[in-house]
Amino acid sequence: MDKVIIVTGGAGGIGSDICRGLASDGLKVVIADYAKEAAENIAAEIRKDNREAIAIQVDVGSKQSVADMVKATLDKCGRIDFLLNGAGVLTRVSVVEMPEEDWDRVLRINLKGTFLCSQAVAHHMIPKKQGRIISNRAPLTMPRPKPASSLSQNRWRWNSRPMRLPSMPSLLAQPIRPCRDLARPGKSSRNAKRYRH
Ligand SMILES: NC(=O)c1ccc[n+]([C@@H]2O[C@H](COP(=O)([O-])OP(=O)(O)OC[C@H]3O[C@@H](n4cnc5c(N)ncnc54)[C@H](O)[C@@H]3O)[C@@H](O)[C@H]2O)c1
Repeated sequence: MDKVIIVTGGAGGIGSDICRGLASDGLKVVIADYAKEAAENIAAEIRKDNREAIAIQVDVGSKQSVADMVKATLDKCGRIDFLLNGAGVLTRVSVVEMPEEDWDRVLRINLKGTFLCSQAVAHHMIPKKQGRIISNRAPLTMPRPKPASSLSQNRWRWNSRPMRLPSMPSLLAQPIRPCRDLARPGKSSRNAKRYRH
């Protein structure tokens, strides 16, 4: 198989295991992460198993850096079949106490990063009428543990609900899906109606 996948955050806990799994399934994996050395180590480990992987440093919150990542992938691998948006930060502070800088950082990496990477690869995928984008997104904050007291349970149940980021897949589906469906006769007119504003 010569399919190529970019995994942002590919040097992280979840991302690195995903990269190992995808490489053992035969995909060529681009480990795209801010942590350059960690990404290179995972790529070297995968190559030691006679699988294909390269490391590219990226800051997913920077449009220029994302453009460089896409260019480097195309230069080195020749194609992009899949993108997995996995780069992210998760703060364990309640949203009530969260410093503004933490909020900005989470949105920049988790939300804007997903937008920038998806947009950049979509520009490459749409003309080819093929490609898939997968986003691994978490709540903005981790839920607090529920207290034992049943008296305060209802209040805590509400408080402990994690705050969710807007659903990127549904935001992205609107501009991207009708283009993809152009390649599938019979579906375009139905989707054109569904996505008309
Ligand atoms: N750990 C969990 O319980 C959990 C559950 C569900 C979803 N998630 C989400 O999955 C993703 C990965 O989680 P994880 O536990 O593997 O985290 P992790 O911290 O181990 O990995 C995140 C990776 O993203 C990279 N990264 C951070 N900022 C970046 C940037 N600006 N540009 C490029 N790469 C950047 C880090 O270097 C790191 O390698 C996160 O988005 C997280 O919110 C985590």
